[in-house]
Amino acid sequence: MNKFTPQSNKEFWNNYAKKSKDNPHGAHSDYHVVELENRFIINELKSKKTFSLLDIGCGNGQRTLMFSKFTEGKVKGIDYSEEMISEAKKLHLMQDEAIKNRLSFEIEDVNNLKDSYFDTIISCRCFINQPSENDQIKLFNTLYDKMAQNGSLIIAEQSMEGIQRLNKIRERFNLEPINIRWYNLPIKENIVFDKIKDLFNIKSINRLGTFYYISRVINPALSFPDEPKPNSKINEIGLKSEVIFQEMFGQNCTFEEFGAQLLVHFIKK
Ligand SMILES: C[S@@+](CC[C@H](N)C(=O)[O-])C[C@H]1O[C@@H](n2cnc3c(N)ncnc32)[C@H](O)[C@@H]1O
Repeated sequence: MNKFTPQSNKEFWNNYAKKSKDNPHGAHSDYHVVELENRFIINELKSKKTFSLLDIGCGNGQRTLMFSKFTEGKVKGIDYSEEMISEAKKLHLMQDEAIKNRLSFEIEDVNNLKDSYFDTIISCRCFINQPSENDQIKLFNTLYDKMAQNGSLIIAEQSMEGIQRLNKIRERFNLEPINIRWYNLPIKENIVFDKIKDLFNIKSINRLGTFYYISRVINPALSFPDEPKPNSKINEIGLKSEVIFQEMFGQNCTFEEFGAQLLVHFIKK
C-alpha cells in the first residue's frame, strides 16, 4: 500500500487521468454515487444565483462543465494533477464560444489558490484527498478566506462516522468492513465540523443512506459469497429508492444514518 504524501497522491491521480480520460463520471468507480452527488449539487445550485464558481480538485473537468450550466458567470476548475488538467483543457477546447469564455481550467494546488471572492466553491472528494485532518481543517479555513460574504461551499465527500455505522450493520450480515483506500481520508465529523462551526452554517446535508443500505448491505448479502456487481439491477433500484425517499422523508429517513457520503451545502457566516 502506498503512503499518502502529496507526491504519491498526485502521481496516483496523474496515472488515473491517463486511464480514465474523458469519463463523464470523473474519478469514481460507482456511477450511481456520482449521479446522486450531482443531483444534490445541482439542486443546491438551482436554489440560488451563482456568478463565480470554483471547483477544487476538478479532475478531468467533466463535472465542472456540467456545474457551469447552472451558473451565470465565470467557472474555474483547478487541480494539481497536470494530467487531469490536460484532459480538462481538451474538454474546454470542444465547447462553444459562450461556454469557453466563462470556463477555465488551471493547474493549481488548493493550498496556494490564486483567485478570491467566489460566491460558490464546490469540492467533489478533494477534502478526503488531503493527507490529514489538520489539512482538511486548514482547507476549510482557506476556502472561507476565498469566498464572498454569504457564499456557498458545497462538498461531496465521505464521512468516517457514516462508514463506521455502515460497517456495524454490515457486520450483522456477516459482511467484511468496507476498506478505505490509501488516498482517502473520510471526514471525521466529530472533530472537523466542531473546528469549523464558527465559519459556516449548514443549509442542507445528505448522506445517501437509502442507496448505501441497498447497494452496500442488501446487494452484497444477496450476492454472497460472490462479489456484488456495481451495475446490478438492485443498485438501480437503490438509486431510485434514494430519490423517492428523499422526496418523501428528507433527512428523517430511517436509513439515512447508514450513508457513507457527506453531501453538505455550507453558507459562509
Ligand atoms: C477523487 S478525485 C475527484 C476528481 C473530481 N472532482 C471528480 O469528482 O471526478 C480528487 C482530485 O483532487 C485532486 N487534488 C487532491 N489534492 C489536491 C490539492 N492539494 N490541490 C489540487 N488538487 C488536488 C486530485 O488530483 C484529484 O484529481
